[in-house]
Amino acid sequence: MKEESKEFTPNILYALCSWCGSGGSETAGAMKLHYPENVKPVRFYCTGGIDPVYIFRALLEGADGVVVSGCHPGDCHFDTGNYRARRRIAAVKTILNTLGLDGDRVWLRWVGHGEGKRFVDTASEFDEHIQEKGPSPLKGIRGV
Ligand code: FES
Repeated sequence: MKEESKEFTPNILYALCSWCGSGGSETAGAMKLHYPENVKPVRFYCTGGIDPVYIFRALLEGADGVVVSGCHPGDCHFDTGNYRARRRIAAVKTILNTLGLDGDRVWLRWVGHGEGKRFVDTASEFDEHIQEKGPSPLKGIRGV
């Protein structure tokens, strides 16, 4: 790890569906597991409702990375919302890569309701991943 990235604390948005993703977060709390405090959870009804515009806007307005977690394939409470999310996240990554803006700053990881450790591991792993990358090149690109 580079010396300069040790001092970098990334702003990370952790978008969770209100069922399994948030359930994983609650299970982590019940298990008294901790994740980095710079990882900020935000709840959505379903990952399928996360418009790619939200992700681009988060990256433009200060997030260094966005991780999305929801129900495992076949478990979405809205039938196929997580499949829609998978397609959308793939499209977001492709767009970012096409523009040379690093699509690997956006992750999708399934987290089940009872998977508190997986929730915490995902948050910690993504935090380390973004720390190694350094600040997002999109930050402040709008000049606001
Ligand atoms: Fe969890 Fe759809 S309700 S991904």
